[in-house]
Amino acid sequence: MLYILDTADIETIRYCNEYYPLAGVTTNPSIIAKEHTDFWELVTQIREIIGKDKMLHVQTTQKEAEKIVEEAKLLKEKLEGGFYVKIPICEEGLKATMRLKELGIGVTMTAIFTPPQALIAAKAGASFVAPYVNRLDNIIGDGTEVAAEIVRQLAHYGSDCKVLVASFKNAEQVHKCASAGCHCVTVDPKILKAVISHPMTDAAIKGFERDWTSVYGDKTILDF
Ligand code: G3P
Repeated sequence: MLYILDTADIETIRYCNEYYPLAGVTTNPSIIAKEHTDFWELVTQIREIIGKDKMLHVQTTQKEAEKIVEEAKLLKEKLEGGFYVKIPICEEGLKATMRLKELGIGVTMTAIFTPPQALIAAKAGASFVAPYVNRLDNIIGDGTEVAAEIVRQLAHYGSDCKVLVASFKNAEQVHKCASAGCHCVTVDPKILKAVISHPMTDAAIKGFERDWTSVYGDKTILDF
């Protein structure tokens, strides 16, 4: 399972890239707009922080296939390495995806809410499909089950398209996606923290510290 960070906040990316085994960063127009800064400066800074090899997913701002392709080519040229253009599922997006597949530019088809949307995106040549779990849960859908069904259908048809699940509100949704065999999750840093946290872990760590200091005081192994 790959962990990706869903933010364009530079300091957060710098921090999480150091502390977590991240596979890359995803953005979308809402995430970029939150930063109120120059687009190219922002995305090139993200690329500098994560390095060339990690994935960087940036969404197109275009609506017509030809323009999407033009924008994707420019993004790929400037951001290099593991770059993927995010395209919301729609007819123009599918047309662009088929062309980008021929050009060797990776596509993440996003704003996916159903397995049929994911299946046809995969058929068009998307490298990743991005279902939105929490937005489905919010309308009394079953986001993690939709992600699970997408995994099953892609496997059934022998597709090499990967499921990059987005939109999380809690660690349990991440856990369910992992159980379903989803290939990647893209999460807010708070979710990463929630994934590694457990009150029993805190208690265990406190116990180790208490027992050690009761015998050795402030000494650490380095002091012996
Ligand atoms: O990339 C899509 C993702 O950012 C959506 O998350 O939390 O806005 O539903 P959210």
